[in-house]
Amino acid sequence: MGFEGINLTEHTGSEVRADVATLLRPEVAANLRKLLIERGMLLFRELNISDEDQVALAGLLGTVRQEGEKGIFKVTLDNRANMQALYLRGSFLWHMDGTHDTVPVFGSLLSGRVLSEEGGDTLFANSYAAYEALPQAMKDRIADLRAVHSFAVSMTNAGVERTPETEAHWASIPDQTHALVWGHKSGRKSLVIGCHASHVVGMERDESDALLAELMDWITQPRFVYRHKWTVGDMLIWDNTGVLHKADAYPIGSGRMMHRTTLMGEEAFA
Ligand code: OGA
Ligand code: MN
Repeated sequence: MGFEGINLTEHTGSEVRADVATLLRPEVAANLRKLLIERGMLLFRELNISDEDQVALAGLLGTVRQEGEKGIFKVTLDNRANMQALYLRGSFLWHMDGTHDTVPVFGSLLSGRVLSEEGGDTLFANSYAAYEALPQAMKDRIADLRAVHSFAVSMTNAGVERTPETEAHWASIPDQTHALVWGHKSGRKSLVIGCHASHVVGMERDESDALLAELMDWITQPRFVYRHKWTVGDMLIWDNTGVLHKADAYPIGSGRMMHRTTLMGEEAFA
């Protein structure tokens, strides 16, 4: 393997112990990728990886998405550092990244550079494990359902103010319809759900709201969740296709600054 992996909870997350030079060996990175897909997220405590090495590691795990500066996107609510700060408020609610695309991002690497004194933990819920544990009756009920995912719905749920500017931006991102149960090429299944899920296609609104709420309650049960309390220098990697994630709310002026590198998607939603 080239590293030690320790389960953080029964279903979600492994802590990996190894230094940066070891992680950057291609055969070690290949093992990391396997563990990531198996466990949903990986934690590297106080790794203190440089931006360059983070992008290099990402390149060994998949294909780096060109965003931010040289593959480093600054996740912060501080508008001076990131013009999209307003939209990051959506990260305070359980979500998957990229539900507005047909091929969602595979995963992300996130390093903690400046932390908030209040809030700012990052939480992960294992959607593969949650699906697997559903009662058979629920699996049968949702097997062929599809849901509409909407940027406007996620922004409204996140409490972002409606103005002519925000509404115009929301309207520029088309809704997407995805199967509620994603049958992956690997044969595993996960739920496609989150604050962006607007409604189930062809279902009465009340029934649809109740079903989506029930599934959200199910997947976010403590037994499927890992909560990360950050120390500066920690790095997390998550498999966005198999876990939901969110940040605990933190104040706009907290200075919280995370450096993210995103891996391009490899598999379309079903
Ligand atoms: C993200 C995200 C959570 C956090 O970068 O996609 O949701 O804790 N981040 O900053
Ligand atoms: Mn996110």
